[in-house]
This record gives sequence, C-alpha cells and structure tokens, in this order.
Amino acid sequence: MKLLITGGAGYIGSHVVLAALEKGSKVTIFDNLSTGNKKNINKDCKFVNGSINSLSDLSSLFKKEKFDAVIHLAGKKAAGESMKNPLIYLENNIIGTINLIKSCIENGINILIFSSSASVYGEPKYLPLDEKHSLSPINYYGYTKLAIENHLKWFSDLIGFRYAALRYFNAAGYDLENRVLGLEKNPQNLIPIVMEVASLQRDALDIFGNDYKTKDGTGIRDYIHVTDLAKAHIDALDYLLKKQVSITVNLGVERGYSVLEIIEMVTKISGKKIEYNIVDRRKGDIDTIIADYSLANHLLGWVPENSNLKTIIESTWKVYA
Ligand code: UD1
Repeated sequence: MKLLITGGAGYIGSHVVLAALEKGSKVTIFDNLSTGNKKNINKDCKFVNGSINSLSDLSSLFKKEKFDAVIHLAGKKAAGESMKNPLIYLENNIIGTINLIKSCIENGINILIFSSSASVYGEPKYLPLDEKHSLSPINYYGYTKLAIENHLKWFSDLIGFRYAALRYFNAAGYDLENRVLGLEKNPQNLIPIVMEVASLQRDALDIFGNDYKTKDGTGIRDYIHVTDLAKAHIDALDYLLKKQVSITVNLGVERGYSVLEIIEMVTKISGKKIEYNIVDRRKGDIDTIIADYSLANHLLGWVPENSNLKTIIESTWKVYA
C-alpha cells in the first residue's frame, strides 16, 4: 500500500506515520513544516516539503508519484486561535483541504482518511456524545472540520469518493518507544503547555475559567493517547478498502479529566510544581465533552489501549523532561 500522509511531520502525523510503517505501507510525507517538526520526519519515508495551499506543490507531487490512499492531517488545530484569526483556518483547513480532495479525484485516488474533530458537535446536549448528536460547532476551527465532512459526504454520494472522517477528541501523549521526539512549536493545547511549565520553558499556565459546571469548575476533556488515535487511522483505511463505504466515527475513550486533574497528574509524575493563574474563559470553549466510541469499536474493532491518564502523561513527560 502506497500512502500519502499530509502533515506527517506534525504531532499527530508523526504517530500515524509510525502506525502506517508498522503495517508495512510505503509512506510519503507531505508537510510544509509550518507547525511540523523536522525532527519528526521519519527516516523510512519519502519527504516532500510542500503545502496543500499551493496548487502547484500538489500538482508536482501527484505528477511524480502514485498513491493508493491519502491520510490528511495537515491543518491548523487551535480552537482559540481560530476565533481570533479565522482567515488562517479558512485558508489551511478549508481551502487547502478542498485543493487536496480535488487533486486526489483528478489523479484517480478515491480513498481519504480525514482528521476531523469533536468540535463539530459544539455544546453537548447529552454525554457521552455519539455520532448522531447534532452538529453545531461553537468555534470556527470546528466549523472548518464540519465543512469538510459535508463536502466529503457530497463527493462520496456523487462520485463514490470514499472517506473516513475521524472525530478526534483530545489527542495527547507520545510514542511509548520514544520514536517521536519533536516537540510542538508554540503549542495551544493544555497538556503541552503544562509540560512547558514543568520543564521550565514557561513560568506559568493560564487556566481559562474555573466557573464551569464541572466538579472543580475547570473544563473536562476526553484525552486519547495519540498511539491509539494513530492505530484507528490504519483500522479505518483497512475498513474502507474491504467494505467500499465511507464512515464517520468518534475517537475518544469515554472518560474525562479536568484541567486541575491534568495539572495534578503532571505534578505527580514530573515532581515539579506547576504555577498557574485563573483567567477569563477562552472564547469557543465548553465545560465538558466526552466521547461514545462504540461505533468505532463496532465497525473497526478499535479499542483504546494506552489512553489511561498516567500513560499519557508519563509518555509526554519523557519527551519534555
Ligand atoms: C479542541 C477541540 C478538539 C480538538 C482540539 C485540537 C473542542 C471541544 N475540542 O480541544 O476536538 O481535537 O481542539 O487541538 O472544541 N486550557 C487551559 N489553558 C490553556 C489551554 C487549555 O485552561 O492554556 C483548557 C481549555 O479551556 C480546556 C482544556 O484545557 O478546558 C483543553 O483545552 P485544549 O487542549 O486547548 O483542547 P480543546 O480546546 O478542548
């Protein structure tokens, strides 16, 4: 199987690359290194430095190589930033992805694994959230993911383009065999920020609100180990190849931790004191979100194996310490 992995030098992408190589696939990484890290470029892959925002980069890539399927992870992923700079998200997550889908179709590739997000749901009406929940994103990042899911559905219905939309909950942790060592540049997500405080790269963390309707007032999220997430991409690809269908599934682990619980676990594992300030809520945040992943389990036989919080934090601290 010859795979193109966009964003393969990124945090999630580099883990998906490992899962694909373990399965025996030949992988080409296409990444512009804007948020990806050179250190994460797997030596067993071909690397092409290019952007999905550039039609000429895409056309020269597809002219030179043939692929059986594409795993698309190149994108911006900070929900807060998307509310301040929506144009960047329009450009990267919508226009860039449409460019990629168009290039796939024009070059005879009709299988795409798409990194979607739990943020397509918006404010949960019930928990845990299943895929039948209404779709009403409250941040622009979530909207960009929903817009692409909708396009994919049209192309699937109209011309048989097959896709798996994987709705990630909160990806966290690092490869347990220490094969991914590149840190995220300018991270916006909670766990890498807490890690930067623990490793003295920043003085303190801002907690965005402690007046949410949760047990300790801070936001609760469903943290899934990135290796479990990565494996689901390969399982989804196998499924699409066998069943000739398109699917949309949640990838989370059906339990949540608050911001303060994350800080407590990082303190315990690193032995470092984590300084923090309570600040205003971040625009576009919600109180609690937890996945029902039974559809992924039913269709793909997927089960999270490494997603307990201790493993997530220990594997991350090993990289930051
Ligand atoms: C969001 C999306 C998720 C997506 C992820 C990609 C929602 C509900 N979730 O995650 O689907 O995969 O982006 O990045 O839209 N926090 C702080 N201080 C910080 C950073 C975060 O207090 O400096 C808090 C947040 O308010 C939140 C929690 O930590 O309660 C997790 O935040 P973050 O890691 O940014 O992820 P989400 O925004 O939940």
